[in-house]
Amino acid sequence: MLGFTSKEKAKSDEGIPQGADDLTPPQHIAIIMDGNGRWATKRGLPRIAGHKRGLNSVRKVTREAKILGVKYLTLFAFSTENWLRPRDEVHGLMDLFRFYMRRECKTLVSEGVRIRFIGDPSEMPEDIQRLMIEAEELTSDGHEMTLVVALNYGSRAEIVRAAARLSERVAAGEITSADVTEAAISDELTTSGIPDPDLILRTSGEQRLSNFLLWQAAYTEFLFVDKHWPDFDQTSLQQAIIAYNNRDRRFGAIEKTA
Ligand code: IPE
Ligand code: IPE
Ligand code: MG
Repeated sequence: MLGFTSKEKAKSDEGIPQGADDLTPPQHIAIIMDGNGRWATKRGLPRIAGHKRGLNSVRKVTREAKILGVKYLTLFAFSTENWLRPRDEVHGLMDLFRFYMRRECKTLVSEGVRIRFIGDPSEMPEDIQRLMIEAEELTSDGHEMTLVVALNYGSRAEIVRAAARLSERVAAGEITSADVTEAAISDELTTSGIPDPDLILRTSGEQRLSNFLLWQAAYTEFLFVDKHWPDFDQTSLQQAIIAYNNRDRRFGAIEKTA
């Protein structure tokens, strides 16, 4: 699988990956936090115990990303397809989102981290919608890093909504079809104003996007890490950045010559 090379995996005696001193952080890292359920099942625990442990990784990785100088960290927390899961698991996840937003805002404020949500909030329970608005307001002065949380996020639905909105504006005579540009579509997405991700990382070993940032990932680098999300920590993030730093991004142009 695409993962770390042995060089990237190499660690010093202190458990810090080699090269961690001169990491060049990508501006925007997006993470598909996968494998919570399997992490728990492997230990004979209920799946929700894996989601709870996953929250520790969220805290560690958010903090570390900010320290390393990442400007945007996007975390895929709940997809539009995740409503298909058993009621108990969905309820358990909703309770965890409530817990996180009530407990973490203060920490985010003290660390200068601004929170922003992408996806369709209208299908979330009303109290959570209120907590989302409050969290965005409370953290709005944070300038160190933006933490983008994808909650009830589905990329195709988002693109369909953007297309519908632009066609309404054409029908109303506000714009013409010539105004339907890449920039106009990007502006209608819930990620409007957020730069495209430089790196999308997925834990758990699965190698798919699962309807995440399809439009935004046109030139993103992908990294599939063979670890479940609750086992992903600061060192794992540093290793991911080292792997990213070894990539050669060409954007369709000619290979860089050293
Ligand atoms: C990711 O872990 C968390 C969410 C989708 C909310 P999973 O719950 O998908 O864990 P696995 O993939 O079943 O192990
Ligand atoms: C993607 O993981 C969604 C989140 C991490 C929130 P899933 O576990 O839902 O994806 P599939 O079903 O394995 O594709
Ligand atoms: Mg999964």
